[in-house]
Parts: sequence; structure tokens; C-alpha cells
Amino acid sequence: MLTARLSRPLSKLPGKTLSFSNGENGTRRTLLFYPASFVPVGRRTYADAVNPVGSKAVLVTGCDSGFGFSLAKHLHSKGFLVFAGCLLKDKGDAGAKELDSLKSDRLRTVQLNVCKSEEVEKAVEVVRSSLEDPEKGMWGLVNNAGISTFGEVEFTSMETYKQVAEVNLWGTVRTTKSFLPLIRRAKGRVVNISSMLGRMANPARSPYCITKFGVEAFSDCLRYEMHPLGVKVCVVEPGNFIAATSLYSAEGIQAIANKMWDELPEVVRKDYGKKYFDEKVAAMETYCNSGSTDTTPVINAITHALTAANPYTRYHPMDYYWWLRMQIMTHLPGAISDRIYIH
Ligand SMILES: NC(=O)c1ccc[n+]([C@@H]2O[C@H](COP(=O)([O-])OP(=O)(O)OC[C@H]3O[C@@H](n4cnc5c(N)ncnc54)[C@H](OP(=O)(O)O)[C@@H]3O)[C@@H](O)[C@H]2O)c1
Repeated sequence: MLTARLSRPLSKLPGKTLSFSNGENGTRRTLLFYPASFVPVGRRTYADAVNPVGSKAVLVTGCDSGFGFSLAKHLHSKGFLVFAGCLLKDKGDAGAKELDSLKSDRLRTVQLNVCKSEEVEKAVEVVRSSLEDPEKGMWGLVNNAGISTFGEVEFTSMETYKQVAEVNLWGTVRTTKSFLPLIRRAKGRVVNISSMLGRMANPARSPYCITKFGVEAFSDCLRYEMHPLGVKVCVVEPGNFIAATSLYSAEGIQAIANKMWDELPEVVRKDYGKKYFDEKVAAMETYCNSGSTDTTPVINAITHALTAANPYTRYHPMDYYWWLRMQIMTHLPGAISDRIYIH
């Protein structure tokens, strides 16, 4: 299995320098070579695609910004009937307004906080009542809504762990359960947006990692259960695209850091010290400025999962550095991968 998983991308290696670092301080070292023709994992062929035209309905959560916003527009351009769930539609958020300004019958924004069961149920009703024949169901659900934060385990409050899980994990579970009756009727698709951090952990990212590992486990269980019913479940694991979305902002990082420091127990504050704390915040700022600025690989991966006759189980839209790091961290013994990337 290991050979099979490595063979597709590795078969396309030799040619160009690849650098790597421990990810936290931003320094990079040369590791191996890959060819100029190496096709990024997020780029897929579209052979045997299902036909999106014919009012195939898809609901995407978290469309106020980032991947969700771009995806809603992209799926609309491909002919889908798109329901764009927006957290702040009722508050007149710019993202929802811009989607509404397209004034298309096939792109409808819906107020949707995935943490609120009543809003999720209302969204199901909006979709159901818009379908020509609700008994034929809806084609796709993309669980994209998410939030993130950072901080060592000892810096992170229980409240923060719960807040992130409420959106990323329980929001995904809640929304999926509510839409499944419609998806099952169409033998459709569930696409869950996880992260490379749902496959490999990273220091100072435990509140986020545990929710994305949970999304991966949930997706696997659901895929096994749905297989006999004809529903396909896919996971998309983006790398670092923070520079291209609203997951973090410079002000956001500072606000999180200030709140975290203010609320730290005295013993933690004293033992780690402000210098160490500030260095970790600076490392996070560097990470957030270093990602890809083009979200096309992510949008293409999600589109493939929704349209290919035989979609992949997992998609890895990420650059070579993160792809290789993920392979090493998930397939080599911890004693080795820890030495390469963590220690
Ligand atoms: N960007 C990356 O590098 C990256 C990498 C791996 C995975 N991801 C994942 O990709 C997904 C999209 O993130 P993004 O990078 O596009 O960030 P983003 O621009 O912040 O998009 C996330 C969206 O989710 C919305 N949201 C937050 N809480 C919500 C809730 N309770 N209910 C419904 N919607 C909610 C946000 O609304 P507001 O804007 O109104 O807050 C925002 O529109 C997330 O699941 C994230 O974990 C991102």
C-alpha cells in the first residue's frame, strides 16, 4: 500500500532542487530533486466527468471568503445550482453581497452558521424546496467552513479547543448528517475540506490539528458506510494557502497572541517567558506570509471530487515541500520524521 501511495507522484520525480526546513523558522535546505514536468497533486484530469448541467445542486459552507467564496463562483460557472452558505449573510457581509450581486438563479446565498442546528435545518429546507424533484435529492455538499488558531498546548485554553472543534469538526458532522437524506437520494457527493494538518501534526497547532484529524476519521467512516449506497465521500487536504484566504490576518494573529498571553496561568507565563512566547508568535506570522497565493489547485481538487465519475478519496493540493513532508511524516517512523522536521 505504501508503494502504491508513493508511486504515483514519485514516479514523476528527478530534475529540480527541492528545499525543506523545519517549517517554524522559515529556513530551507536542499533535499532532493524533482522534474520540471512534475504535475502538482492538485491538478487532475477531467475525463469521465459527470454532467453538472441539469440543475445538479451543491451546497458549500463558509462562502463569505476564501476557498468557499471562489468555489461558489467556480461551480456556478460550471453550470451547477449553487447554494452558498454564508456565516454573515444576515449581517450584510461583503462576501454574500458580492455573490448576490451576480443576480443568478443558480447562485443563491443562504444564512448558515454550521454551529447552529436551526440554521442548518433551515438551509436543508431552502435547498429541498428549490429542487425540481426533492425525491431525486441534491448532488453535493462541500464542508468548507472553518476557523483556525495557534499556540502551544500549554498556551491554549479549553475554551479555544472547544470553539475550534465546534466549527471545524462538529459543524462538519452536523451539516453532513442533516444533508445526507438529500445526498443519498441522488447518490451524490460529500466533500470535506480537511488540511495537510489533518494528516500530520505540527507544534503549536494542536487546536486545529485535532479537529482536522477528526474530520479525516469522520470522512473515512462515512465513506465506508456510504459506499454500498452509492454516495462518494472525498477529503481535500490543502497545504498552506493562508496568504490567499482570510483564515489568518496579521491583526488576527496579534489579537490571538495578546488574548492568549493575558489569559495564561501565571506558572506557564513564568516558565516559558515572554521572549519564547514572542518568538512563537513571530514564527506563526512567518508561516502565514509564506503560503501559496493561488487557490486554483484547491478549487480544481474540489471540482474534480464533485464532477469526476471516479473521484479520488483524498486530494493533496499543496506545494512540493509540504507534499514531501506529509509523505515522510505519515510513512516513516516517528523517530526519523521527528528528527527531520521537528527537533
Ligand atoms: N487557507 C489555508 O491555508 C487552508 C489550508 C488547509 C485547510 N484549510 C481549510 O479550508 C477551509 C476554508 O478556509 P479558508 O482558508 O478559505 O479561510 P477563510 O477565508 O477564513 O474561510 C472560512 C470561511 O468559513 C466561515 N466560517 C467561520 N465560522 C463559521 C461557522 N460557524 N459557520 C459557517 N461558516 C463559518 C468564515 O466566515 P467569516 O469570514 O465570516 O468568518 C469564512 O468565510 C477551512 O476549513 C480551513 O480549515 C485552509
